[in-house]
Amino acid sequence: MKKITIAIDGYSSSGKSTMAKDLAREIGYIYIDTGAMYRAVTLYAIQHQLFKGEEVDADQLEQQMSDISISFRLNEESGRPDTYLNGVNVEQRIREMDVAERVSFVAALGFVRRVLVAQQQEMGRHKGVVMDGRDVGTVVFPDAELKIFVTASPEVRAQRRVDELNAKGLKTSYEEVLANVKKRDHIDTTRKEGPLVQAEDAVVLDNSFMTLEEQKNWLLTHYKKAVSLNG
Ligand code: DC
Repeated sequence: MKKITIAIDGYSSSGKSTMAKDLAREIGYIYIDTGAMYRAVTLYAIQHQLFKGEEVDADQLEQQMSDISISFRLNEESGRPDTYLNGVNVEQRIREMDVAERVSFVAALGFVRRVLVAQQQEMGRHKGVVMDGRDVGTVVFPDAELKIFVTASPEVRAQRRVDELNAKGLKTSYEEVLANVKKRDHIDTTRKEGPLVQAEDAVVLDNSFMTLEEQKNWLLTHYKKAVSLNG
């Protein structure tokens, strides 16, 4: 069957990653989590003391971009790719609050976006990828055969993130997470470079009240339709 490019964009904690990973596994595509790449750069900046409070030293970070190597390797146990920063598995670490609180500032930097977008385009060059993020359907792959824009209310998304963090044994409060979700929405949608916007030709999925099974079926239907239209 002909391989296509699937771009899944949407708000943070909208369940994009879970659905994109499951879809990729189901149809035998490569899954690429672009948010993990922005998180990995943020972790690098934290580890190299490039933050002064919320402010990142952009000049230093720009100079060090070529020292940052991000890759994905399949975790045999979970069947999903883990994120590696300079050869170290950081899949868990990049989900922690200190990274979540700072990542929007890093993701708003033009030079960071240019470097990561180029890497993402290279990773998806041969199609057969499900890539999730904020600007995949608009900037990274504007010609993607299937674009999905995922949304859910901030409250539903905050609760999901709390459950996710709790399941990993990471303590946090709902209020703190809700404030973080809203703040990130604001930064993500209003930044100058690669803001979160719905591509004109994207299909919208509001999954506030959908089960995982319903989402999966919805996605498979759209995938099959896109393949048959582009076959
Ligand atoms: O999807 P996520 O929550 O892991 O994303 C982390 C941050 O990275 C979030 O603040 C938005 C940003 N991001 C981005 O600017 N562009 C992308 N393609 C993916 C994520």
